[in-house]
Amino acid sequence: MKTVHQFSIGDARKSKHIPPKSVDLVVTSPPYPMIQMWDDVFAAQDHDIQKALDNRDGMLAFERMNRLLDRVWDEVYRVLKFGGLACINIGDAVRTINDHFMLYPNHSRILTKMLSIGFTPLPAIIWRKQTNAPNKFMGSGMLPAGAYVTLEHEYVLILRKGGKREFQHEDEKQHRRKSAIFWEERNQWFSDVWMDLKGTVQKLDKQDVRNRSGAFPFELPYRLICMYSTQGDLVFDPFLGMGTTMLAAMAAGRNSMGVELEKHFADPIVSRMETAVEISNAGIAGRLENHLAFVSGRISSGKPVSHVNTHYGFPVVTAQEKDLMIHSVESIRPTGDHAFEAVYSDRPQDEFCRTWPENSMIPDSLPGKQRPSKKTPVRKQIQLELL
Ligand SMILES: C[S@@+](CC[C@H](N)C(=O)[O-])C[C@H]1O[C@@H](n2cnc3c(N)ncnc32)[C@H](O)[C@@H]1O
Repeated sequence: MKTVHQFSIGDARKSKHIPPKSVDLVVTSPPYPMIQMWDDVFAAQDHDIQKALDNRDGMLAFERMNRLLDRVWDEVYRVLKFGGLACINIGDAVRTINDHFMLYPNHSRILTKMLSIGFTPLPAIIWRKQTNAPNKFMGSGMLPAGAYVTLEHEYVLILRKGGKREFQHEDEKQHRRKSAIFWEERNQWFSDVWMDLKGTVQKLDKQDVRNRSGAFPFELPYRLICMYSTQGDLVFDPFLGMGTTMLAAMAAGRNSMGVELEKHFADPIVSRMETAVEISNAGIAGRLENHLAFVSGRISSGKPVSHVNTHYGFPVVTAQEKDLMIHSVESIRPTGDHAFEAVYSDRPQDEFCRTWPENSMIPDSLPGKQRPSKKTPVRKQIQLELL
């Protein structure tokens, strides 16, 4: 299996190089209107935004910044296939202008625009983005009623163009089955509140780079890509930033395209892709390890794990996970200006392919001496059960 990835430096309001109805999934995070770190980026694209800020007219600045984004949302609709989805990570802003403190509700402004274009809104995700800033509590402190709730969450708006995507041909159906996620991942990822966006993959990602660029954690686009597209699909990010969506698409075996306005981001994006094999395979191994830990725990607690995955041979909870396979990345090489090709292994990872004793699927059949104790670490438990 191979995938291709390409980004361009330019203005996503003019993404004409991307043909209409060619993209399966958009995963993106725009600059956030009325968050100070993005003022200059907006003002450089529309001088009236700077005027509104200079005149201390917060509502006008908010509206003009969003109008700029509106033109990208129009492009997102144009390039998406029918049945394709858009996942937009956005946070609201709070700001005091002219001694007037208020919330600038970016998520609802963007949602309103998306509805006006014709998108179908689907249930959104709220994810916890905790701040440790000492001044995080705003307003009158312990004295009512002038204190303000701290913003420690962001949204992932999820929208679909047209009706449900159809998988008609046998090869499309096969791809879809291979792209399944684990049952336990479904339970966590399809929850509307994500409290846990920290993982092994994120540790490999450089925190300082993320802070400077407004990059989201790798896990965020990676999950969304696994949830809303199949292997071989095309994912597009019109606000590519440091290329996290592209990295996640590579890890997930999807093709990708991106647009980024700032030309000085080009070199960091290219060098980030040099780490993609390591990041991808660490993330993939993490998913498979988590699955083994999960089934192991489930078996030892007496719950059924009734099916076997055809590639790895490990137990899975549902028949939908039988064909699931997560391809590890063998290589990523540049193929041109801001273009890359990723090559994947067609074999399941050896270290996760073990023959499970047939009766290990039946919880009560584990002999007492092999039953892992509650104190045994998870990795040990797996080894015990694989014996
Ligand atoms: C919140 S950041 C995206 C971060 C990205 N998700 C990541 O993980 O690195 C928004 C990005 O949009 C870019 N941007 C702003 N206006 C743009 C435009 N009109 N077209 C393309 N990119 C733009 C900014 O330069 C910034 O890098």
